Amino acid sequence: MSLETMFNVAGKSVIVTGGASGIGRAYVEIMVECGAYVCILDCDQDGLGQTVAQIGAEGWPGRVWSIAVDVSDRRALANAFDAVARKQGRIDAVFANAGLDAGPGFLTPEGERHPLGQIDSMPEDQWDRVLDVNLTGVFSTIRNAARHMKMTGGGRIIVTSSVAARVNESFVGTAYMPAKAGVDHLVRNAAMELAAYGILVNCISPGPFITNIAGGRLKNAADRAAFEAQSLLGRIADPEEIKGLALYLASPASSYVTGAQMTIDGGSSLRG
Ligand SMILES: NC(=O)c1ccc[n+]([C@@H]2O[C@H](COP(=O)([O-])OP(=O)(O)OC[C@H]3O[C@@H](n4cnc5c(N)ncnc54)[C@H](O)[C@@H]3O)[C@@H](O)[C@H]2O)c1
Repeated sequence: MSLETMFNVAGKSVIVTGGASGIGRAYVEIMVECGAYVCILDCDQDGLGQTVAQIGAEGWPGRVWSIAVDVSDRRALANAFDAVARKQGRIDAVFANAGLDAGPGFLTPEGERHPLGQIDSMPEDQWDRVLDVNLTGVFSTIRNAARHMKMTGGGRIIVTSSVAARVNESFVGTAYMPAKAGVDHLVRNAAMELAAYGILVNCISPGPFITNIAGGRLKNAADRAAFEAQSLLGRIADPEEIKGLALYLASPASSYVTGAQMTIDGGSSLRG
């Protein structure tokens, strides 16, 4: 396989959930730049408009479009997948990436008890929402991807998990870790089930990346310092740094990879 063939995604039909910001936006950019057609599914209507306009203005008009949808709305998500298949002809790769934070952890980055992060004080509806979006939303996304990819003989599903699936974080909200741990298990199970249909399912497990998650929390000095201290590289990552792995998992280069968990965390989880 030539280098060009190995990483060729030109003409592929791609969906990115949560692609209006952060890591998801990086997935959109690399796919579009490499010649794919991308539909972004995101609940942030304004963010979608800006992202599509900016990427279009960067020289790829017509390669990216969007549908406003909340991944926890099962019917709306299924309809969105059907709309993408109608417009783009098929669905080759799906990034199940949409996710949110879970509020404060039980400790602040300075090591104090957080009044709203205790297991007996955190709002119960926060638990429900995080599980609905970060776990059930991924389930629904994989389900719709499988439904379409079975019709066309295969595809790639790439899920954004987190190192928090395996490493406990005292300053990350309690619901986040179990939701991501569920995602990891779901990816392995889906990989086993869907391999027979030519559908490869993998997950990317990022450590700390500077995005807008938690209201851009990682841009605050104390939070940033806490995460920087965990990284073997002494810094948190830029979303640009996830593009290579995203392209690898969506392209022929990873044709024998399924059920894998690709950690990209500057070595942070080695300290955890
Ligand atoms: N930033 C990090 O340090 C980090 C680390 C590990 C894992 N992650 C994971 O990466 C993924 C992307 O997060 P990010 O850091 O880029 O955050 P971000 O807030 O910058 O982007 C998340 C995007 O998802 C969208 N979204 C949120 N809830 C949604 C819903 N219910 N339906 C549709 N869209 C929804 C948001 O509108 C936003 O555009 C998440 O799954 C997150 O858990 C992030």
